[in-house]
Amino acid sequence: MLNIVVCVSGGGTNLQAIIDGIEKQIIKNTQIIGVISNNESAYALKRAESAGVAAFCISPRKFESREAFNRAFLEKIDELAPDLIVLAGFLVILPEDLVKKYRKRIINIHPSLIPSFCGKGYYGLKVHREALARGVKITGATVHFVDEGTDTGEIICQKAVEVQRDDTPESLQRRVMEEAEWIILPKAINEIALRKAGKGKEN
Ligand code: GAR
Repeated sequence: MLNIVVCVSGGGTNLQAIIDGIEKQIIKNTQIIGVISNNESAYALKRAESAGVAAFCISPRKFESREAFNRAFLEKIDELAPDLIVLAGFLVILPEDLVKKYRKRIINIHPSLIPSFCGKGYYGLKVHREALARGVKITGATVHFVDEGTDTGEIICQKAVEVQRDDTPESLQRRVMEEAEWIILPKAINEIALRKAGKGKEN
């Protein structure tokens, strides 16, 4: 069994795709052992609750320093002891010691085809605004391992989405989610679970 912790900050539609994927067995041999949000009003926490998954809020605002927050975050992760940490719309830069300790065991979903429209400051709607401003005809989403950089880790999978003439950042964001993110994130987790069970592709 692959035990995963999902980290979220907002709406949690990717979390929902994981919950549904496990339920429908698109993701096999996997259980969510915890959801962590940095934001206590994140709707994702309600989704976790509805699915009967343990949910925790660790907000940087509740700590006197970034170091204290980083320590508390790492402690919670260590306590849960996941096989895999999934960043599903998690908008906090991870502490470096956590990245080092959990190397190749943290994945992130990003709403563009990396290396386009990624790196510091590129998150959420901003990514789609920039893609439209640049006039790209194809965009998409990427699942990648997390390393010390921002969106620089090894790419696991990507899916392209066509930009339409009348797209707004909001309509493009929605289609990238529907046509790419909610498909490739469950797929990547399933592949990692299969590999753990010794049935997956080498690597
Ligand atoms: C998703 O589009 C995800 O790709 C993006 O935030 C959104 C979260 O939505 N993540 C980033 O931009 C990370 N750089 P959700 O809370 O509904 O899953």
